[in-house]
Amino acid sequence: MSSKKTIAVLTGGGDCPGLNAVIRAVVRSSLREGLRIYGIENGFAGLVEDQMELMDDYSVSGILPRGGTILGTTNRDNPFHYAVLEDGQPIYKDMSGKAINNLKKRGIDGLIVIGGDGSLRIAQKLSALGVNIVGVPKTIDNDIPCTERTFGFDTAMSTATEALDRLHTTAESHHRVMILEVMGRNAGWIALHSGVAGGAHCILIPEIPYTIESINQKIQERRTTGRNFSIIVVAEGAKPLGGDVTVARMVEGSFEAVRLGGVGEKLTRDIESLTGIESRCTVLGHLQRGGTPTPFDRVLCTRYGAAAVGAYITGSYGAMVALQKDAIITVPLDSVADQPHNVDPDGELVNMARKIGVCFGD
Ligand code: F6P
Repeated sequence: MSSKKTIAVLTGGGDCPGLNAVIRAVVRSSLREGLRIYGIENGFAGLVEDQMELMDDYSVSGILPRGGTILGTTNRDNPFHYAVLEDGQPIYKDMSGKAINNLKKRGIDGLIVIGGDGSLRIAQKLSALGVNIVGVPKTIDNDIPCTERTFGFDTAMSTATEALDRLHTTAESHHRVMILEVMGRNAGWIALHSGVAGGAHCILIPEIPYTIESINQKIQERRTTGRNFSIIVVAEGAKPLGGDVTVARMVEGSFEAVRLGGVGEKLTRDIESLTGIESRCTVLGHLQRGGTPTPFDRVLCTRYGAAAVGAYITGSYGAMVALQKDAIITVPLDSVADQPHNVDPDGELVNMARKIGVCFGD
């Protein structure tokens, strides 16, 4: 056994632009700090199944701009509620003991978990069992508390903004209402930021329930002033006043039991039947999660990755690296798990957008 301290890194939950950039920073800074570093494959499944390999500079060469994760990921496998096949049927068992033993038998003293709220909740539970954990906040949704930015959000927001720019062309030429449904789960960050950046006329977010009448009023106001088209961005978690979210389907065994989707199409039908104006819906879907990260995300990922290793070295365990006032700090994992981080309906960006005439459907 080497006398060098050994740590491991895994990526959990849905893929997200910038995962590879964080892995690269974690591996490179670990090696320069004299640590040995294992990469765990396929998130927490690889931790339970003991799938891990030592990494070096060559393992992370050329991955900075690449989407996805070279380690693989899953948003289903939770060591505390792990599907084991018995007689062909999945039985859910607590496999956290096996996961911890897999770390111990290789002399792994610390674990860096790059993940969203589901993965960070698991990280917090493992930390309570004595594993030295540092978390890195990942998600395009930007819905993790205690940090001003999760990595991946900037890239998703840029992709959604570009989509809005492109939709303007058809909207204007055909005098249509064009609706763009974006991701974000129960938070409206992607819709709000891309809506402002892309000049949307209506921005519908989960934090502000909408009425079809309010949207219609905005469309009519534009028409009476000679602008015969409208652009609407709607977050997948947006809901009508007094109504509920639109569910695409329920997913058994996933970190997220409810898969949102369909509100854009529903809205399109409602607007068309109320106004008689030809309307079309585009669902951006996983295009928001793929592709190369923006320069902002690459820099943030690099800072997060190096800071996570730094936090391990200084013994800041049970923590998550976070961005506050442009500084990278650590916050306790306990203050992160199960706390929603939503758009403030009375916040500066919403109020500014209202001042320039954006309709929020209320
Ligand atoms: O959390 C990231 C996210 O992309 C959400 O915006 C979306 O609701 C969800 O994941 C989709 O997950 P899946 O890839 O499992 O459909």
